Amino acid sequence: MTRQPISLKPHTPRIFSGVQPTGNLHLGNYLGAIKRFAELQTSHECIYCVVDMHAITQGHDPLELRRATHEVTAAYIAAGVDVKKHIVFNQSQVSGHAELAWIFNCVARMGWANRMTQFKEKAGKDRENASVGLFAYPMLMAADILLYRATAVPVGEDQKQHLELTRDIAQKFNFDFAERIKALGLNSGDYFPLTEPLIAGPAPRVMSLRDGTKKMSKSDASDYSRINLTDDADAIAQKVRKAKTDPEPLPSEAEGLKGRPEAENLVTLFAALSGREAASILTEFGGGQFSTFKQALVDLAVASLAPIGDEMRRLVADPAMIDAVLFDGADRARAIAEPVMREVREIMGFVQR
Ligand code: TRP
Repeated sequence: MTRQPISLKPHTPRIFSGVQPTGNLHLGNYLGAIKRFAELQTSHECIYCVVDMHAITQGHDPLELRRATHEVTAAYIAAGVDVKKHIVFNQSQVSGHAELAWIFNCVARMGWANRMTQFKEKAGKDRENASVGLFAYPMLMAADILLYRATAVPVGEDQKQHLELTRDIAQKFNFDFAERIKALGLNSGDYFPLTEPLIAGPAPRVMSLRDGTKKMSKSDASDYSRINLTDDADAIAQKVRKAKTDPEPLPSEAEGLKGRPEAENLVTLFAALSGREAASILTEFGGGQFSTFKQALVDLAVASLAPIGDEMRRLVADPAMIDAVLFDGADRARAIAEPVMREVREIMGFVQR
């Protein structure tokens, strides 16, 4: 290996996260992830990835993948991520992701991957027919994170198990190759950091507007079940107005929301969008007409989301501009990843120029 100075001081605080370009982005994606991405950039160095390689594990339409890649990128920008200060790019442009994932496939154990609940859910009953890529998905995710030696990853509760696997992989790699890592002078046995999950306090569980017991989902047949991030003010207002409720007025205390999933969901939404506690919302609206509360929620949702939708529609109308952001981001991502990959190849004993 050409002995360049070690490019990265070990474990520079760094955030990495990713969103899959599949289907339309909705309010759940925004409140659960993208909104926080923008918040974290004031305190951290951030890398935000559009994980297009993760989006092909269950079959896909190439043109739709492209459209959705542009849409997720637009959402990052519209939410306020500064693409000059931080890095926004799509995964497939930086070959280190796939390369490190292969190495991690050989570090992780079948038993570890077999325990992943997301694989079980997504593979369903017909596991024989699931792609090998769907099984290997968590090792690619570990590679995404560790390729940049990211120290923290903002994710939803559902990704916690994948983060634990990432730590297990880092630990086993550090342990298995400890001697080689030391011999090469690449710090003492902790080449990869043990990445922390940043799970937002009580992450708002955003449910369907048609059925308060189901998660808001891009695959729900009814468009009235979700607020898409690209919806305009009229669409947002209509969907909130038509959101399912029950005949009772709102209770004055959170206790009273039990067994009323639709009412609870709308209060959760109000809380997430306003930054207020459910209790204070119920003090204000409890006992009153549901329609008064709904109108306030319409106003709030339109005020906070319509500007994002407007900006996203403006951005996706200019794909060349979005591509330029992704190309520039990929160049800067590669500049971090490539020195790490050179070291990893050296650790593995691969011959390289
Ligand atoms: N698996 C994540 C999800 O479905 C997406 C993802 C891929 C990711 N690679 C990542 C998230 C790395 C955080 C860090 O939400």
